[in-house]
Amino acid sequence: MSEGRSREQWGSRLGVILAVAGSAVGLGNFLRFPGQAAQHGGGAFMLPYFVSLLILGIPLCWAEWTMGRYGGNRGFNSAPGVFSAIWPHWLSKYVGALALVIPLVIYMYYVMIEAWCVTYAYYYLTGDLVPHTGGAMDSIMTAIGTQSPHMSAPEVTSQAFSRFFNDFVGIAEDGKIFSAGSRQWIVILSATFLVNFVLIYRGLGKGIEKFCNFAMPLMLVLGVVVLVRVLTLGTPDPQRPEQSVLGGLGFMWNPHAKELLSAQTWLAASGQIFFSLSVGFGIVINYASYLRENDDVVLSGLTSSSMNEFFEVCLGGMITLPAAFIFLGAAAGKMGTFDLGFKAIPNVFALMPAGRIFGFFWFFMLFIAAVTSSISMLQPVIAFLEEGFGLKRHASVAFLGLVSAIGCGYVVYFSKGLVALDTFDFWVGNVLIFMLAFFQSVLYGWLFGIERGQREAHRGAHLRIPRFIQYVLKYVAPVYLLVIFVTFCWQNLPSRNVPAFEVETQLAQRPEAGAVPQTLADDFQKHEAPLPNDCRLAESSDGTGWRIHDAQGVLLYTIASGKGRLAVMKHVPGYFETIGNDRVAFISILFITVIMLFLFVLVHIAGRRWKQEGRIGPAKAAAQP
Ligand code: ALA
Repeated sequence: MSEGRSREQWGSRLGVILAVAGSAVGLGNFLRFPGQAAQHGGGAFMLPYFVSLLILGIPLCWAEWTMGRYGGNRGFNSAPGVFSAIWPHWLSKYVGALALVIPLVIYMYYVMIEAWCVTYAYYYLTGDLVPHTGGAMDSIMTAIGTQSPHMSAPEVTSQAFSRFFNDFVGIAEDGKIFSAGSRQWIVILSATFLVNFVLIYRGLGKGIEKFCNFAMPLMLVLGVVVLVRVLTLGTPDPQRPEQSVLGGLGFMWNPHAKELLSAQTWLAASGQIFFSLSVGFGIVINYASYLRENDDVVLSGLTSSSMNEFFEVCLGGMITLPAAFIFLGAAAGKMGTFDLGFKAIPNVFALMPAGRIFGFFWFFMLFIAAVTSSISMLQPVIAFLEEGFGLKRHASVAFLGLVSAIGCGYVVYFSKGLVALDTFDFWVGNVLIFMLAFFQSVLYGWLFGIERGQREAHRGAHLRIPRFIQYVLKYVAPVYLLVIFVTFCWQNLPSRNVPAFEVETQLAQRPEAGAVPQTLADDFQKHEAPLPNDCRLAESSDGTGWRIHDAQGVLLYTIASGKGRLAVMKHVPGYFETIGNDRVAFISILFITVIMLFLFVLVHIAGRRWKQEGRIGPAKAAAQP
């Protein structure tokens, strides 16, 4: 065994598989996946999803396991070190720095959502999230009922869950969370944060592995219990026979083939695979670096990916959206991830017999799933601090605790519209992950080399990787990733106007600037295009149509007139426009940039140390097989 070998190792083969599967199975499986599938063609989403799994997910997962173990056996546990061991170029360690930025920044918002989950679980126990128990939900429902006496009871309940979540996360105002009424939530968030750091402090075997050994089976049991409950719901409302279990499963899984022609569907599918498998995060590289030289990577990689797919498709895909459809109807399909997870699903548990206990099970399972993932986001940076600067565990944990607490505090403070969270998620949880996955496929296919890769992967393997997978890794994966990445940027960075609907000729008289005319507002309603009450109509500067802005002046729709019709286009702001218009989005980008620069500097210093110690560099590479 090579010099500099880390003292930390996994306790057992099952332990490492459960730890990697624990990192993979998380909020992405239960909240993100159903939302993405519903928005991108239901069952049709599964075609690009499985193509991405087979072409990108599993091959890159094997590449990460192989490169991680290779680097680990040469004394490195962090991506900057592992990448330098593979490709002894000065650039290598900076590319590896991305594998520190990604898990660290994702942790900053992920831990907040984790704390939402455990708080919701707690509110099921206290009854605050359960109507008719005298808790917080009842007060909100009474207030809404008084303000809007014409509302039906289901509308009041649905509004109440929405208001509960919005108040709870402080969606209306930045800094709301730090007001006096939110003390309990701050305590729970701090405790959640602490749990992560206690587990990380305890180390690989006693912390991560031990926790995952107990958490994964528990998650399975809780998930199956909730699944059985959902699948035995039958048709709760005889007045709505279509809202049955079968209807719910059909709603989630019936394919809408035309979605396959949309680039967004393919982008969403590959993004989901990366997020879900924790591939392109820098986590698998780190976890695999603690393996022994002859520990299997092929079967272990496949087993952990398969476990993730079971949790995602069989539990995430069969519970969240079907349950929401059974009680709330087709409206559930139009919801974003958080609306589905924290507004619709609690409403579903409220309507379900014994929903209080199932609601607790569900949110507690989400919490455990999130913890097994969030601890895996801390470990790569801890490993880097220890091997880059010789820090002891308490020092590296304290340092990382401080940095991540600042980032988490930032996301929690800038809660208005969840802009900070969205910005972090877009730039790091999507853009940087695509970039790192691309670099890794090039590193493996072209610099490590597929011959060496094939040999290295099969050392101690219980299964053979088909030979063509190596060619997929060398040629197909980088090209596929590049195409996806360019398309992703093309579709998301600039603003777009997407056709919404066309208005009949008789309505196409010249509207006056000012309030939106009632006839036009009715058309928006008819076409289910959301239009806020206080928006304004204005003639476009070139006089060929109109624009509709909200009260803050944000452009919502453009309307072009011609051939006796008005064509209404929804304005989808690109990320460049968002950064320009939104102060918090702009500051968030600066924040990410500062974190990146900071980590680049740390990697630079660590690289000099490693070079002085003769651990990296051309001479070292020449000496290695
Ligand atoms: N893989 C983790 C999840 O799906 C990050 O939540």
